[in-house]
Amino acid sequence: MVRQVSEYIISSGGKRLRPALVVLSAKALGYQGDKHHELAAVVEFIHTATLLHDDVVDASNLRRGRDTANALFGNATSVLVGDFLYSRAFQMMVSVDNTRVMKVLSDATNIIAEGEVLQLMNCNDPEIDETDYLRVIRYKTAQLFEAAGRLGAIVNDSPHDIEDALGTYGMHLGTAFQIIDDVLDYSGETDRIGKNVGDDLAEGKPTLPLIYAMKHGSTEESEIIRQAIKQGESKDFQRILEIVQGTGALEHAYTQAKQEAILAENAIAAIPSSQYKEALIELSAFAVSRKF
Ligand code: IPE
Ligand code: IPE
Ligand code: MG
Ligand code: MG
Repeated sequence: MVRQVSEYIISSGGKRLRPALVVLSAKALGYQGDKHHELAAVVEFIHTATLLHDDVVDASNLRRGRDTANALFGNATSVLVGDFLYSRAFQMMVSVDNTRVMKVLSDATNIIAEGEVLQLMNCNDPEIDETDYLRVIRYKTAQLFEAAGRLGAIVNDSPHDIEDALGTYGMHLGTAFQIIDDVLDYSGETDRIGKNVGDDLAEGKPTLPLIYAMKHGSTEESEIIRQAIKQGESKDFQRILEIVQGTGALEHAYTQAKQEAILAENAIAAIPSSQYKEALIELSAFAVSRKF
């Protein structure tokens, strides 16, 4: 069953951005060995485990253009196979035999879990502001991107300031990436994102588009959004979408994401030019412009 469920979700694709980040970071620093491959796989395994768990928590039924594992095999199976992948990732990580790697990845997984719990606590709460929101996305998403960047530097035995530079790059990239994920939940096309649009509203998640629209809409508009967050329902989706678009909330989110992408690029300014660094810069642009 572990094989069946893991193969199901892994073979359905995904962008493989986090492992790309491990590999590109290592290569941008001139790494010549092959440990970055193992670590790239560890990071993607951890990501896959979080997706299996996240789709249960979010009651999502579409991912990567297919039924989610929970929709197909049930919640219990998704949780248990997620645990299996998490622990297998840790077995693979230990085989690299580097305490700094273990510290970065164990801290990252702990913070991701904290972010998901924090988000759960914020659900159905219309008082959540942009600062609360940013904390959640830094924890639940940007943390793994940061770890991926750091791992590239660690396998290369690069100095601390270089590790921090790639970690900071990853953190800002991941923040931009999640802001856009939250935008796409209002403006994306299901066929392209491979997920259902409107899932966040259905869960009463106070994401940036709603937080901004609540603050900048008329009293009546703000009240509609407040109620939707409290009740977590998507029956008013069209009306909410109009308010989100009318208040310029999506443009605001794009501006925020672009700023994060610029901070990401700035963080690696001191890394020498190479095709790998170019790819990292392209990745930060993609995090903002992406439609999937
Ligand atoms: C989905 O991540 C979860 C978020 C942090 C938004 P991705 O969009 O990277 O998922 P895949 O791996 O490409 O499907
Ligand atoms: C990312 O948040 C979840 C994880 C970090 C696992 P979302 O809940 O927005 O991700 P999607 O939209 O389900 O991919
Ligand atoms: Mg989700
Ligand atoms: Mg999402």
